[in-house]
Amino acid sequence: MDNNRIIIFDTTLRDGEQSPGASMNTEEKIKIAIQLQKLGVDVIEAGFAAASPGDFDAISQIASAIDKSTICSLARATENDIKQAGLAIAKAKRKRIHTFIATSPIHMEHKLKMAPDKVVQKAIEAVTYAKTFVDDVEFSLEDAGRSEMSFMKEVVDAVIGAGAKTINLPDTVGYRFPDEIKAMVAELHKFINGRAVISLHNHNDLGLGVANTLAGITAGARQVECTINGLGERAGNAAMEEIVMAIKTRKDLFDGLYTSINTKEIYTTSKLVATITGIEPQPNKAIVGKNAFAHESGIHQDGMLKCQETYEIMKPSDIGLDKNNSIVLGKHSGRAAFKDKIKQLGFDDISDEDLQTAFDKFKVLADKKKEITDDDISILITDESLNKNKVYELVSLQIADCSNGMASAAVCIKYNDELIQDAAVGDGTIDAIFKTIDRITGYKGELNDYSVKAVSEGKDALAKVVCKVTFNSDNPPMIGHGLSLDTMLASGRAYLGALNSYLSMKDSLRSKSNPHQV
Ligand code: KIV
Ligand code: ZN
Repeated sequence: MDNNRIIIFDTTLRDGEQSPGASMNTEEKIKIAIQLQKLGVDVIEAGFAAASPGDFDAISQIASAIDKSTICSLARATENDIKQAGLAIAKAKRKRIHTFIATSPIHMEHKLKMAPDKVVQKAIEAVTYAKTFVDDVEFSLEDAGRSEMSFMKEVVDAVIGAGAKTINLPDTVGYRFPDEIKAMVAELHKFINGRAVISLHNHNDLGLGVANTLAGITAGARQVECTINGLGERAGNAAMEEIVMAIKTRKDLFDGLYTSINTKEIYTTSKLVATITGIEPQPNKAIVGKNAFAHESGIHQDGMLKCQETYEIMKPSDIGLDKNNSIVLGKHSGRAAFKDKIKQLGFDDISDEDLQTAFDKFKVLADKKKEITDDDISILITDESLNKNKVYELVSLQIADCSNGMASAAVCIKYNDELIQDAAVGDGTIDAIFKTIDRITGYKGELNDYSVKAVSEGKDALAKVVCKVTFNSDNPPMIGHGLSLDTMLASGRAYLGALNSYLSMKDSLRSKSNPHQV
């Protein structure tokens, strides 16, 4: 193994999905996994197979769809979890099981209620069993950040003896400071002495996830676990884009170390994850925030005009961001120019059918919106690909506001080539639209979250609505996306998008039900 290479282990689809409100359906996860592979991620943690039939299904579909990155499933140190993980990743070309047990006194005593000896035994059994499915087994000492060094050495020795190839040291609660992580890694690096790769997994509770990860790399860690946009449990995980760009920008401090990431795919990946999860990075977020390359003050702008390096340590183009976001196409542009443009924007694997649908939508948009930017086109295509499985499709809607706060909506929906119309009243226009959709489809959704945002520039910007809707309390809420110049139409589309996702998830589980699931 090349000792200068930092293995990028992305856990957006597992730890990232544990961000409150970030649950994704199978199709969305596959889309992200394909983009992560394009980005150059070494290992994709695709989920936690034993968590639910939906997770199992998503991991196994990702395992079939991805051929370059290693596909990994998380598993607690139990027989059933490991078996589910092994089965879910079975079809992957490159596969890994990631099993873990907590090693800190506080977790062993209060959560596991297990004596340290028993924890060691469980860890050995877990790795030994995982090895019957795959050769590539990673072991995590959960809450390593608060574990005792002597006990960690005992566990590390035992699991390496059982065949673990990667030892992950999570700072599960984001408690440690960079110097402490550096000292911990340095000691374990010496102890492990090349018998396994040391990995870091730092949470961001004190805002130190990335700093801790970089400090650990300088002490010998050669795998980093991270997420796009820093998504993850609570305050999130170390953000991949920050780690990668720090190593690239400060080569002088990392002495020949490198990652396999194609940094020009960072911006597209960040946008895709934000669109799918509905969680936008804060505007001042490093690397991918809206303001990360914006220069507001006159002095800075003057400096930038004279020499870009006066106020920029990285170029926007390094992360694939075209700052000019030029006005590209208008209503007279043809299909060939449109096709050319979407290739330039990185959508090179679009099918002819999807291209035609996107082009039709572009024409409708170009009729209403004066200036069509790169962003408009990217958003249009991403939205189209997220709303492909349309059991129900919104055709039109009409709203009437009543003075007493009530509103009524008349909605027309296409279902199996049939047009169905109905109307209902509600507490406000959005409620009236959703109630009418419920009446037409026969599914009653409970709206958990609703957001509307202008997603492109100008007065006539596109409105993007994201809805989270629960259709059955036994299933997680479904996310729907709707895009239109008209917020009401976007809302109706988003609500129907959530319903379509729900129906497609039910379908997929019915046809691929996992006989091994307990
Ligand atoms: O934060 C953590 O400890 C984890 C482990 C399961 C790796 O996510
Ligand atoms: Zn974690």
